[in-house]
Amino acid sequence: MVSLVGRSFLTLKDFTQEEIAYLLDLSAYFKKLKKENVLHDRLKGRNIALIFEKTSTRTRCSFEVAAHDLGMCTTYLNPQSSQIGKKESIEDTANVLGRMFDGIEYRGFGQEIVESLSKHSGVPVWNGLTNEYHPTQILADLLTMREHIGELKGRTLAYMGDARYNMGNSLMIGCAKMGINFHAVAPKKYFPEEALVAECRKWAEGSGASIVLTEDVKEGTAGADAVYTDVWVSMGEPEDVWEERIEDLTPYRVTMDVMKNASDKAIFMHCLPSFHDLDTDIGKEINRKYGLTCMEVTDEVFRAYSGPVFDEAENRMHTIKAVMAATLSDEWDIK
Ligand code: CP
Ligand code: NVA
Repeated sequence: MVSLVGRSFLTLKDFTQEEIAYLLDLSAYFKKLKKENVLHDRLKGRNIALIFEKTSTRTRCSFEVAAHDLGMCTTYLNPQSSQIGKKESIEDTANVLGRMFDGIEYRGFGQEIVESLSKHSGVPVWNGLTNEYHPTQILADLLTMREHIGELKGRTLAYMGDARYNMGNSLMIGCAKMGINFHAVAPKKYFPEEALVAECRKWAEGSGASIVLTEDVKEGTAGADAVYTDVWVSMGEPEDVWEERIEDLTPYRVTMDVMKNASDKAIFMHCLPSFHDLDTDIGKEINRKYGLTCMEVTDEVFRAYSGPVFDEAENRMHTIKAVMAATLSDEWDIK
């Protein structure tokens, strides 16, 4: 039997295929309970802290709703309302929070911060996104693929865009572990780091997956079961990278031609938020400066393929609930 009690959830590197499959099964179980209005507040009396050093819609809402569904209370901390980093070290903060809370979520910058929180707090720490990894997002993506495509093994996911940041890195790890062929389709300088690719190739050998890094859109997306993209400039990156990113990544935008080149049942995936139209402040600003009406995906693709994308967003909540539940208690009867 899989038990994850007491473990932190910092990167999927630390989890086996069996453990990830267990988390997906537990997510599906909680999703069913939620749809059937069955209460599952077995963690009543527990408290968790939610630290957000970067902005969020899905992740924060998912942690809050999931915690409340499980019966837990939440305390939200942002950089303006806490001492974290500026007046108090991560180590001291972890020591303090570990005495009050049963678990801690962290969204922010370097991976070493979640590692330090985990080391010094003595309670499970959940990575809500760092520069390097976004593991709770990948669980939602895998659950969504399972729902729309079925068996994960042997499928192909093509990731287009900046493949060396949190989403590209984490998808490559998740795919390698679960037996999904991973294609990074990007200019060479946006390929994931070699050391991580080498690590993933080892897991891929065990799971039967392949890892392909290619600059060729046609080759990289041919027959793919899922085409995935993310924003071209991530939270915390400097403003002045926009021009270069637009120049480099425009050929890697997800268009109808890309979708037609993928499998005829292919789904489009995106972690969101997405710049597919001009209904955002940044979208308008980029349009004014560079004349673009969309960025990583066309509005046509986004609207034609939006079903799974919003399922992915909903699945953030069910999968985050599973991560908290599994690391805080063994008593879930998912059979
Ligand atoms: N996908 C995701 O993490 O969304 P938020 O930034 O809104 O949390
Ligand atoms: N790469 C994006 C992911 C957002 C969910 C970012 O870090 O901003």
